[in-house]
Amino acid sequence: MSRIPLPYNSKVMDLFRNPKNLGKIEDATVIAVAGNPACGDMITFYLKINEQTLVIEKAQFESYGCAANIATSSIVTEMIKGLTLKEVWTDITWEKVTQEIGGLPGVKIHCGVLAVGALKRAIRKYFNDHGNAPAWMPKENTFEEKQALEEEELAETMSKRLKPEEEKSPP
Ligand code: FES
Repeated sequence: MSRIPLPYNSKVMDLFRNPKNLGKIEDATVIAVAGNPACGDMITFYLKINEQTLVIEKAQFESYGCAANIATSSIVTEMIKGLTLKEVWTDITWEKVTQEIGGLPGVKIHCGVLAVGALKRAIRKYFNDHGNAPAWMPKENTFEEKQALEEEELAETMSKRLKPEEEKSPP
């Protein structure tokens, strides 16, 4: 069965083929994962943060997601470099990232949302690890973080359903 290629624009295709800032940061200040290894749609963000100024000095990613996820993650790492955590939190949204990349096919919007969800999770994790959440950070998860959680829950449910009977734990 042949598959109909998705109508990705040339910017998405270019970043998919030549992603920027791909790979681990060995001495990252914070690392956050979003997505589910069971289905392969997984994204990890590595941030190197200047702890005095709270400026992101370096951002890299690893993605096992699709072209849309790789391309949006790549552009996110470029958009956030040199910004403070507060600026990133308030300015970087999935809409802005999707716009910056020239748009995504409707069925692939969630892949960009997942990338921004991983980024926001990394920032929240940084402050949680330090036990000093700033006043500008809402206690409630952002839309992107909620979407990442929903995708993870869905993937977990699906992987449980697809497990062979003998692997399922007894009732
Ligand atoms: S990241 Fe799963 S379909 Fe794009």
